[in-house]
Amino acid sequence: MSWNAPELVIAPSLLAADFARLGEEAGAIESAGADWLHLDVMDGHFVPNISFGPAVIKALRGSTRLPFDVHLMIEPFEPYIDLFVDAGAAGITVHAEATRHLDRALEAIRATGVKAGVALNPATPASAIENVLHRIDLVCVMTVNPGFGGQKFLPNSADKIASVKRLVGDRPIRIEVDGGITAETAPIARVAGADVLVAGSAVFGQEDYRKAIAALR
Ligand code: DX5
Ligand code: ZN
Repeated sequence: MSWNAPELVIAPSLLAADFARLGEEAGAIESAGADWLHLDVMDGHFVPNISFGPAVIKALRGSTRLPFDVHLMIEPFEPYIDLFVDAGAAGITVHAEATRHLDRALEAIRATGVKAGVALNPATPASAIENVLHRIDLVCVMTVNPGFGGQKFLPNSADKIASVKRLVGDRPIRIEVDGGITAETAPIARVAGADVLVAGSAVFGQEDYRKAIAALR
């Protein structure tokens, strides 16, 4: 997978797909022009919702060639990294709030050969990434409080994205936004500096996936 291309990545979140037909949904989103598949793993502890784990992700590997962008909303996450690597993740994003040892965790993720990302909850300042910039390939700015799809894009998100962009500078680090991304909010995120758009409801919640993805571009 080429990390710097395409310039704008659309990563539909499978959380909003039909859970009875996950394989088909993953295939359909690839045919519709998605760039990555975003996979939200929730444990009912770090976030107040439970989704799916590595076995489900591994089973999906046969349904699409899209890179798997795995977003871990679990605490602790350290004991499970190898399982998600084995499940076929191209990148693993962990929350800064879910560990005391972010530096060590990111080093461990990269050592497996997959891309390493850090996600920041809305209340976590952009500066949380300052001392790990040399260890990351992606920053995920949560533009809603994590746990559920279909929430509204938080209004102060643009400033946060811009702060992350200033810190990242011209390093080869992708800036992802996650939560409440629609055809209306995508341009706000883009202008502020985001180059990976995660979208659940705005894609899987629509009848025509191809049209929905095109609307986000
Ligand atoms: C929220 C998840 C998101 C979610 C986004 O905790 O991390 O990826 O699926 O859903 P929408 O796009 O509907 O806000
Ligand atoms: Zn997510």
